[in-house]
Amino acid sequence: MSIGIISAIKEEIEHVLEDLKESSRETIGSRDYFAGSLYDKEVVLNVSGWGKVASASAATAMIMRFGVDSVIFCGAGGAADPSLNIGDIIIGKNFVQHDIDAQPIFAKYQVSPLGISCFKMGPEFKKEPTFFAADPDLQKAAFKAAKNFVSKNLHDDIPTELLKQFNIKKPMILQGLIATGDQFIRNAEKIDELRRELPDLKCVEMEGAAVAQVCMYHSLPFACIRIISDKAEHSAKIDFEAFITHIASYYSRGIIRNLMTNGS
Ligand code: ADE
Repeated sequence: MSIGIISAIKEEIEHVLEDLKESSRETIGSRDYFAGSLYDKEVVLNVSGWGKVASASAATAMIMRFGVDSVIFCGAGGAADPSLNIGDIIIGKNFVQHDIDAQPIFAKYQVSPLGISCFKMGPEFKKEPTFFAADPDLQKAAFKAAKNFVSKNLHDDIPTELLKQFNIKKPMILQGLIATGDQFIRNAEKIDELRRELPDLKCVEMEGAAVAQVCMYHSLPFACIRIISDKAEHSAKIDFEAFITHIASYYSRGIIRNLMTNGS
């Protein structure tokens, strides 16, 4: 049983890479894949690069070349739910590509010909939204891992001054809808529009739904863990960069370590 773990950028996963044992590196399509043992589980790690194409091709390489049995994406996300704060955690339940729009041929957000995300727009498309979905068991395991990390390890794993700097006390963990697109969302109008169109939306990011789609093609379990780095409005760039530089990788390591050691 091998697990593929992907992050978009090195800073999101570098502490996890440090913990990888007996690792071998293989370069495919200009990117490195590290196979090895992580907390006694067989894994393949990759830094995919930003966006849907990069992450989808990384997931495909993991599946086709390394034969991983499941894929986990872990990284930062921008808050869409106004109750969220920096340092909170989202475990993806469903995923929509917010920038796919082939109207009037297909409904907004529909990924043709899958019929996924068939939602909104006109009476002919009036049906319940269907989105890409996380594997329920892996999602549950990721949620449990995040809960354990927050309740048991947060204050040991992350330096106190960093928790203070980011005003992180007891992070909230939610499960729900994640919207993916090839855009870094950084203004109130855009995030408000997405909230209006997708009322259950928890967070925005740039890879989850693409990897979910690849995993669906291959009938493999997928889970996505997002740590809130910013609120997707005017200060998003500054907040994101600070979070990524100083703290993101502590979260990734803590949650993934719990996921690997408490069963998935
Ligand atoms: N990942 C982290 N923050 C983000 C944002 N504001 N937009 C898109 N992806 C993100």
